[in-house]
Amino acid sequence: MDQAALATRLAFYRAVTWGLAVSGDRLTRLTAPPWRADPYRTYADLRSGPAVYRSRAGMAVVSTHELCHQVLRDRRFGVRTTDGTLPEPFTATPLPTDHPATPTFLERDPPDHSRLRALARPAFGPGRIEGYRASVVKTTTRLLDAATAKPRFDLIADFAAPLPIAVISDLMGIPDVDAARFTHYGRVLGGALDGVRTLRHARALRTATSSLREMFTALIDRRRETPGEDVISTLATADLSADDLIATCELLLIAGFETTTNLIANAAWTLARHPDVWERMREEPEITPAVVEEVLRYEPPVQMTQRVPHEDVDLAGHRLRKDTFVVVLMASAGRDPAAFTSPETFDPDRTDEKDHLAFSSGIHYCLGAPLARMEADVALRALATRLPNLKITGKPKWRPTTVIRGLRNLRLQTL
Ligand code: HEM
Repeated sequence: MDQAALATRLAFYRAVTWGLAVSGDRLTRLTAPPWRADPYRTYADLRSGPAVYRSRAGMAVVSTHELCHQVLRDRRFGVRTTDGTLPEPFTATPLPTDHPATPTFLERDPPDHSRLRALARPAFGPGRIEGYRASVVKTTTRLLDAATAKPRFDLIADFAAPLPIAVISDLMGIPDVDAARFTHYGRVLGGALDGVRTLRHARALRTATSSLREMFTALIDRRRETPGEDVISTLATADLSADDLIATCELLLIAGFETTTNLIANAAWTLARHPDVWERMREEPEITPAVVEEVLRYEPPVQMTQRVPHEDVDLAGHRLRKDTFVVVLMASAGRDPAAFTSPETFDPDRTDEKDHLAFSSGIHYCLGAPLARMEADVALRALATRLPNLKITGKPKWRPTTVIRGLRNLRLQTL
C-alpha cells in the first residue's frame, strides 16, 4: 500500500473512531482522549450494562470476570475466524497488508498453536525459571547501581525497560544486545497491538520486523552449526519451518519486553501512592509476590485481548454468531465487584478466591508468567531496599495505547 493511501486510511479510521467515541460507544471510548486516560471508568460502565455489549464498531465486548474467564477457556472460541482471518484491532487502522510478519503461536489456533507452544514450553516452566533468578538479581544490581548513582533517574529507561531485555536476550542466547534499539522495537511492536496509528508508526513497524527477522536468521544459522544451552539452540534443532522458527523466536523475545517493563513501572507508580505497602515490603520482603499479583489485578500491563467463536454460541443469554469478533477486557475483570471485594482498593492482603486474568486464561495463558513474576519480584525487592522513599518527580503521563497500559516515563528521586 502506498504512503498516500495509508495516510488516507489512517485519517478515515481516526475520524470514525472519534465519532463513535463521542456518540457514546463504550468500546471506542477506550481508544480516544479524554476517556482513554481512565479506562476503569469505562469498564465500570460496561459491567453495569448488558452482559455482552455490542459496539457500533462491530465487535461484541465482555467485561465481567465470569464472562471474560468463560470466553478465554471455552474451546469453541479461537483467535482467528473459521476462514483463518485474524480479528482487526478496533483501536486503530489494521496493519497494512504488506506487513511482512508471519503469525506467531499467540495468533494461531490448534493444532498449530499446540504444536508450536509445546516446543517453547520447556524453557519457561517454573522450575527452569527459578534457576535464572541469580542472574536476574545480578542484572538488577548492575542496572540499579548505575541508575541510583544519579540524583534522579527514569525508572523505565534506566531500569524497567533494560532489565527484561537483558534477561530474555540472555535466556535466548542473543549476543551483543543493543538495549536502546530493542526497547524501541518493543515499544513499536507492543503499540502495534492497537493497530497502526501513524505513517511513522507503520514505517517503524516495518523496520523493526525486518531487522529482527535478519538478526534471528543469522543467529539460527550460527546455533545450528554450534548449538549452545539457550532457547534458540533448542528450537533450531526442532522440526519447524524457517518462518515458524523465526516467528516463535520473535514472540518469545518481544512478548516479555513491554509487558514486564510496564508491570514493574505500574507497580512503582501504584506503590508510590501506597507508602504503607512500600514500607512493609522492606520489612517483610516475603509479601512481594502478593504485591506483584495485586498490581497485575489492579493495573495490568495487558488490558484486553480478542477471541472469535468458531460456531454460534449462547453467552449469558446473548447469541453470538460464528466469526463475531469478541473483545475480552481482562483489566475490567480485575475490577469486577462480583469477583473481588472492594476492587478499587489496592490491597495485597486480599483473600478473594478468584484469580486476576492479567496473564489471560485457557490455552493461550501467558507462557512467560513464571518469568515475569520472578523478574518483578526481584526488581521490586531491590527497589524497596534501595529507595526507602519512593518519590516521583514531575507528572508521569500514560502512553497513548489501549491494549498495553504503561507510562511513558517515571522519574524517581534517589535520595
Ligand atoms: C507482566 C508481564 C506479562 C504479561 C502481563 C503478559 C500477558 C500475556 C497475555 C495476556 C497473554 C495472552 C494473550 C491472549 O490470551 O490473547 C500472553 C501470552 C504470551 N506471553 Fe505473556 N505476558 C507477560 C510476560 C511475558 C514474558 C516475560 C514472556 C516471555 C517469553 C511472555 C510470553 C508469552 C507468550 C509466548 C504468549 C503466547 C502464549 C500462547 O499463545 O499460547 N509473556 N501474555
